[in-house]
Amino acid sequence: MEIKFQKAAKLKEKPDAHELGFGKYVTDYMFVMDYDKEDGWHDARIVPYDEFMLDPRCVTLHYGSETFEGLKAYRTEDGRILLFRPEANAVRMQNSNDRLCLAKIPTDMFVEAVRELVKVEKDWVPDQPETSLYIRPVCYGTENTIGVHPSDSFRFFIILSPVGCYYPEGVNPVKIFVEDEYVRAVIGGTGACKCGGNYAASVKAQEKAEKLGYTQVLWLDGVHREYVEEVGTMNVMFKIDGKVVTPPLEGSVLPGITRDSIIRILRDWGYEVEERRLSIHELMQAARDGKLEEAWGTGTAAVISPIGELNYKGELTTINDFKTGELTQKLYDYLTGIQWGKIADPYGWTQEI
Ligand code: COI
Repeated sequence: MEIKFQKAAKLKEKPDAHELGFGKYVTDYMFVMDYDKEDGWHDARIVPYDEFMLDPRCVTLHYGSETFEGLKAYRTEDGRILLFRPEANAVRMQNSNDRLCLAKIPTDMFVEAVRELVKVEKDWVPDQPETSLYIRPVCYGTENTIGVHPSDSFRFFIILSPVGCYYPEGVNPVKIFVEDEYVRAVIGGTGACKCGGNYAASVKAQEKAEKLGYTQVLWLDGVHREYVEEVGTMNVMFKIDGKVVTPPLEGSVLPGITRDSIIRILRDWGYEVEERRLSIHELMQAARDGKLEEAWGTGTAAVISPIGELNYKGELTTINDFKTGELTQKLYDYLTGIQWGKIADPYGWTQEI
């Protein structure tokens, strides 16, 4: 694909890599390309980061015709830059776009766009521990119409943000509120897509949890309000009596790339991993019986995040004395070791830029 380049008149000052937070800063450039029925995806360009103009009728403003992705570029100790499984993000965006009737971006185009933008912005990949360059590809409908129907034109863009830990707690345990009033998704809906609408519908519960002193919510299924699904920005796994249990991908849970990687690693390490429905009652009983040994979330932004406390209808469960579990730590060290190029990658998941 031909990618045009427009040079910025002035480059930004880079932020202090110790104080990045998550999503506060953006780099100098972004990737943009457009789609219409006549030309398909066209006009690929890397241009200075800037605002977009939107017609007030833009279908995305009214009906949420939007999908996005999240992946990271990592700086190795010897200064190289690695991406982690970008093809998996491309495929997931194709699936999300299919569900929301957005034009699909072919895998090679998606990966080339990511690689070329990160290459231009290589000096923005931070080198402090726990830092990386977060890559946010977004696709949205650009048709200007008030009628409800699939958009006939789209934009795909990628922005970059140097980041530290997603949670203010860093890689320490977080407290999770089990949400039994609001629901995130139902089978047949868009729960398995990475689309803005899912998150728009989630922030009410997030706000409620934060007011109660919790970092995020644990969603239960939308039909029975019983089976554990996922946490606000991550998939979830529990070590119960030696086995790892995680909710299955039945259509209402996001198919996380970190989730998939961790399941593979655990099975290779000889752990039994059960992808099955897990009732909140079974989970709370396992905690009461002393069988809930560890819990953690998995996600690109959150990486591996230990869960130290659950609150379900006022019953509090502290997991592993609110300390990071042994397996959680081992998984964190191994996965981030691969991502930051500190240990060999036997899976071929990383690729150098
Ligand atoms: C990610 O983990 O990349 C996410 O997209 C989660 C989130 C920040 C919405």
